[in-house]
Amino acid sequence: MSLTIIKGTILSAPAPGQLEAVPGGYLVAEDGVIRGVYGTLPEQYAGAPAEDFGDALILQSFADLHLHAPQYPMLGMGMDLPLLDWLNAYAFPTEARFADTDYAREIYRRLARELVANGTTRVCMFSSLHTDATLILMEELEKAGVTGYVGKVNMDRNAAPGVLEETTEESKRETLRWLEACQDFRLVKPMLTPRFTPSCTDELMAFLGRLAAERGLPVQSHLSENDREIEWVRQLHPDCKQYWETYDKYGLWSGRTLMAHCVWSDIRERAAMKEAGVTVVHCPDSNVNVCSGTAPVRAMLEEGLKVALGSDIAGGDHLSMFDVTASAIRASKVRQMTDPARPAFLTVPEGWYLATSAGAAYFGEQPGFAAGNRLHALALADDDLPQPHPMTPQERLERAVYLRQRGAIRAVWSEGRKVFSAEG
Ligand code: GUN
Ligand code: FE
Repeated sequence: MSLTIIKGTILSAPAPGQLEAVPGGYLVAEDGVIRGVYGTLPEQYAGAPAEDFGDALILQSFADLHLHAPQYPMLGMGMDLPLLDWLNAYAFPTEARFADTDYAREIYRRLARELVANGTTRVCMFSSLHTDATLILMEELEKAGVTGYVGKVNMDRNAAPGVLEETTEESKRETLRWLEACQDFRLVKPMLTPRFTPSCTDELMAFLGRLAAERGLPVQSHLSENDREIEWVRQLHPDCKQYWETYDKYGLWSGRTLMAHCVWSDIRERAAMKEAGVTVVHCPDSNVNVCSGTAPVRAMLEEGLKVALGSDIAGGDHLSMFDVTASAIRASKVRQMTDPARPAFLTVPEGWYLATSAGAAYFGEQPGFAAGNRLHALALADDDLPQPHPMTPQERLERAVYLRQRGAIRAVWSEGRKVFSAEG
């Protein structure tokens, strides 16, 4: 049996809007599974070696439930264009480069390491349409200690002719080849990924829906992100009253479905998500960068929808989920200032819950450092900062969210294994 004991100020989000702090506490895991958080070390562990991080905060690590791996090289580029123009001018040509497997290896290795160094240990990620590069991405994530789901992107129409495109037949065949080839991964699993409705023919959507049902595969895509996109979907599917119905029609709408953005989802579309158990992935950086809007997150939460956070790089410009959490809070304040209903903004504890516990819930975990969860954690030392007064753990977390503390992450654990250490 392998035993992990981490000592520090243990701070977790056991419920929306709630933070639980145990200063000088112990986080204990056996064989990678959390046994508990203790103020004093239980007798049975007496004498066992503990990793002492002093006064550092021991936090849940992040779940980033929507990001595009092949857009990593273009981080922070093309941000003066709206979504559909940005896709054609930047995203598609950048993704096209991943036909080159050497390039894919180099970029994905770097991305995987950067995710872990920033405390992200769970992801749901879009690859490109390339099967081989997708397998390389999965290998590099698994090697670095990032867990979760990756999707080979399906896009058999409205792509970039001669640059980035696949026929319907190719898309189906390559999806099956990819699923065949990724059976041996342990920590990173496949997820079906129709890019979004404008990118997929009805035939391909129907094929993916059948595959999801036959093999019990989860699904991720984009929904109601941008006004021009929504109008386009209306023209493509005149039989569907709302965007979500174009996924539901083909069996791509279930409790294992993730839908990124949902900026313009009205009460009816939200009710459809609630009823099916679809998880909304809120991507606040991206929504502002490509001028999509600010999502009605408070309404979603009050209506009982499942909501998690995504960096959506490279529509988003940061992969650090500290940044994304701060952006989600700011976006909710903009929403309060501009929405006639004046919805309450997200508090720091609520934002933190979305970035950690709510994302982990997609992987079947209980909120916070609950006993039985896999050990996913990070140690953050903030003792370099000037302090206005002796700070509570909650105040320290608030600063961690808002300040970019370069080098503050001292260690990261994923699936019980230490996958990053600032000592190298
Ligand atoms: N919709 C379809 N593809 C994309 C993408 O790559 N990024 C974003 N933000 N939205 C999309
Ligand atoms: Fe996206």
